[in-house]
Amino acid sequence: MKILLFGATGMIGQRIAAELAKRGHEVTGVSRSGGPVKGDVADAGTLARGHDVVISAISPPRDGTEPEAPFLDANRALIDGVRQAGVNRLIVVGGAGGLKVAPDLDLVDTPDFPDIYLKEARAQRSNLEIYRGVDDLDWTYISPAAEIAPGERTGTYRVGGDELLTDDEGRSFITAEDYAVAVADEVEKGGHPRSRICVAY
Ligand SMILES: NC(=O)c1ccc[n+]([C@@H]2O[C@H](COP(=O)([O-])OP(=O)(O)OC[C@H]3O[C@@H](n4cnc5c(N)ncnc54)[C@H](OP(=O)(O)O)[C@@H]3O)[C@@H](O)[C@H]2O)c1
Repeated sequence: MKILLFGATGMIGQRIAAELAKRGHEVTGVSRSGGPVKGDVADAGTLARGHDVVISAISPPRDGTEPEAPFLDANRALIDGVRQAGVNRLIVVGGAGGLKVAPDLDLVDTPDFPDIYLKEARAQRSNLEIYRGVDDLDWTYISPAAEIAPGERTGTYRVGGDELLTDDEGRSFITAEDYAVAVADEVEKGGHPRSRICVAY
């Protein structure tokens, strides 16, 4: 498949690019600083033309400024651009903070949620609401586990819905390599259109 990947130089984006390339897909990787193709999600209307799938692995601003408004604007621009380009399939790297740990409690609202991730997690939770309002594209918002970091590619993971997935010891974790496997599986099998899923061990 021909896949356009925004955020291709990022911690997660790099691993998605590698996993898709390994499976023989033709990946166009984009970042604002120019790796490999220079561009912004706001350019999706032109960049996405001719691709089968668009993936966004962009992050909100992490320079200490308020991240939510620019991140939501970027995602609205992405959605409009993908529509203009005539691409139907959009996969979004999401956040774990909006996952439920109890029926009325999101992970981001728990007392021990780390301060340094609060604004980004809230921005990601609001971002999901934007996607939930989109009914003319086959989007999938893929929340990683609470912890995601570079590591081993085992090829195994579990898929959940709106609840945080934890292992037998109560840890919610996935390597970025196995998260990328889950993204590539979603690209190929497309099992979760217009849904948020969570992937973890
Ligand atoms: N457990 C969790 O919930 C969790 C943990 C980690 C990450 N995440 C989420 O996963 C996503 C990716 O995180 P990450 O750590 O991999 O981020 P990262 O390492 O900062 O990478 C972000 C990538 O996006 C590019 N980018 C940013 N804004 C862009 C724009 N407007 N247009 C095009 N490219 C853009 C960056 O390159 P340029 O700056 O050169 O454009 C870079 O390639 C984030 O949305 C983050 O919230 C969630």
